[in-house]
Amino acid sequence: MSTRQILVTSALPYANGPIHLGHLLEYIQTDIWVRFQKSRGHTCTYVCADDAHGTAIMLRAEQEGISPQALIDRVRAEHHSDFKDFNIHFDNYYSTHSEENRHFSELIYTRLRDAGHIATRDIEQMFDPEKQLFLADRFIKGTCPKCGAEDQYGDNCEKCSATYTPAELIDPKSAISGATPVLKTSTHYFFKLPNFSQMLQEWTQSGRVQEQIANKLNEWFAAGLQEWDISRDAPYFGFEIPDAPGKYFYVWLDAPIGYLASFKNLCTQRPELDFDAYWQPDSQAEVYHFIGKDIVYFHALFWPAMLQGAGFRTPTSINCHGFVTVNGGKMSKSRGTFIKARTYLEHLNPEYLRYYFAAKLTPSIDDLDLNLDDFSQRVNSDLVGKVVNIASRCAGFIKKQGGHLSTQVQDAQQVARFVQAGEEIAAHYEAREFGRAMRKIMELADEANTWINDAAPWVLAKQADQQAQVQAVCTQGIQLFRILMVYLAPVLPQTAEQAREFLNLPSLAWDTRDQGLEGTCINTFKPLMQRVEKIQIDAMLAASAEDAAAEQALKEGSPQKSSVLDADPIAPQISFDDFIKVDLRVARIVKAEAVKGAAKLLQLTLDLGGETRTVFSGIKSAYQPEALEGRLTVMVANLAPRKMRFGVSEGMVLAAGDDDGIYLLDVDSGAQPGQRIT
Ligand code: MSP
Ligand code: ZN
Repeated sequence: MSTRQILVTSALPYANGPIHLGHLLEYIQTDIWVRFQKSRGHTCTYVCADDAHGTAIMLRAEQEGISPQALIDRVRAEHHSDFKDFNIHFDNYYSTHSEENRHFSELIYTRLRDAGHIATRDIEQMFDPEKQLFLADRFIKGTCPKCGAEDQYGDNCEKCSATYTPAELIDPKSAISGATPVLKTSTHYFFKLPNFSQMLQEWTQSGRVQEQIANKLNEWFAAGLQEWDISRDAPYFGFEIPDAPGKYFYVWLDAPIGYLASFKNLCTQRPELDFDAYWQPDSQAEVYHFIGKDIVYFHALFWPAMLQGAGFRTPTSINCHGFVTVNGGKMSKSRGTFIKARTYLEHLNPEYLRYYFAAKLTPSIDDLDLNLDDFSQRVNSDLVGKVVNIASRCAGFIKKQGGHLSTQVQDAQQVARFVQAGEEIAAHYEAREFGRAMRKIMELADEANTWINDAAPWVLAKQADQQAQVQAVCTQGIQLFRILMVYLAPVLPQTAEQAREFLNLPSLAWDTRDQGLEGTCINTFKPLMQRVEKIQIDAMLAASAEDAAAEQALKEGSPQKSSVLDADPIAPQISFDDFIKVDLRVARIVKAEAVKGAAKLLQLTLDLGGETRTVFSGIKSAYQPEALEGRLTVMVANLAPRKMRFGVSEGMVLAAGDDDGIYLLDVDSGAQPGQRIT
């Protein structure tokens, strides 16, 4: 097998919002495929970046009172750490607001222009006279001309589904300033996509996209391709178009070019990577873009046309996936199913989600439902109950032999069959049939467990003359476990790494799977994975709903925030009997420490005067942990324990605060830990 040179990308997330579980389907799918290729010994490079330009980002920064640069720097760091904590490994994570991206955007544009693929033409557009800003359709609201529904967006009505132009709206208003927009003319730059009709039809019908996508594209070809408006007027956060002062590249022009820029930036750090070898027209390297089905038009039409027109190679293929739904519905803020990556991480192990998505992924563009009951059940039954179980049943007996494995496995043919199955599993991974790969791996895990059940080392262990036999049976079990971990490593990199340490091996790469373990030593087994508990899922949903409510309050509260009470009104009255159910106590913080992997949490050890409690509290942004040690505060002592990923939180400390600051309650000195507060 010769080594392939493969460049892989995922779509670049917008730099104005957090990563959520919907996004993660894409990054997890891509990361698994990349890790698989690397495991097989290919040169596979995975690049991505934040998509940092456009009106939405400009307005968001303004709203927060910071510069666009400060906003995109902050969000990029957040995105990067979300991805890292989900074990998504990019070779480079860059930004579209970079010098490399400016260079390639200008280069591609000028080459297209010089080849006659750019046109200019005046267009009339809605303009906000107050903000001095041209308004995209989604920034205009008004009354639907068809059904009279108020407060509808500029291009379609959510009530009656009518589509129209913003000029047809009754009583249109700028969604940004509330001013009445006026029509204004300005010159725009267009990419002449119809010049590439022939090329694109051939390109898209030659196996570059999935069949479902090819069919969709045929409808677009039949309807006829339109010229694409690639310019926006100042003020705009982006790159100015060469020789066109005050005109900027539309964000979607420079966004895919960000793939080139991120790769170029990596090439300067890694001399063994040659940019041109990947991107010149006759390149032998492979290039794959993983994207969601909402952005096909940009990737299967504009992008290959731009590349071809500017003298670069086109992608090998576009790999498109469907959308994530949660519990059968669109992710919903009010139901708590709009789950941010960070919220998930505070309650659950990232490897669970990686496995669940893998188990359900196919190469099709069908939507994928994250059903949370099914999620717990599959993780518990497959990963904990089947795979990890093999190791945990065998490890203890080997430990009793000083960690030594036998010099021979019990059933070499079975081992050979497990190794052989790697061919089929590899073919499934290659074809993005991850669900099939997982099913095959779980069949093998079932087989291994049945075999161990039949061999029953726990029965043999009771007989003094059977110790060698026990060791041989368990060596077989450990060997089967090792092979399964080779197959699962692309999906479960963190668990595989722990397994590698346990097995005392240098690598779990694909071609190590037929190596023997006989006669080697293993280390002490530590549980590789805990079961998912329902209370963790419930806590995650509750936290997501709280998050969404707080965000909403902030949005509604911020413009005319006249008093704190307006933004956060006092709750309905309760009786004294209700109040007294809450058992508030004086507590001394004896220890405070940061929690690895949790951006907002501190782990507090509280002395309640004879009883010690562990509480996780979201106050990290406001306090240095050491500064809290020794101080008295107030805690809810009879709150039901909440199981989080990092441990169980046994109560809650009280603090005032919101996004602007957090203020922990203080108790005057002299009070005793454990004293009740009424
Ligand atoms: N910035 C553009 C992409 C530019 S690529 C040159 C963008 N950003 S995004 O943040 O909205 O989406 C990033 C990726 O996440 C897209 O591929 C999108 O399809 C995917 N998803 C966003 N929400 C999703 C789900 N709910 N489910 C599955 N994928 C989803 O588009
Ligand atoms: Zn309507």
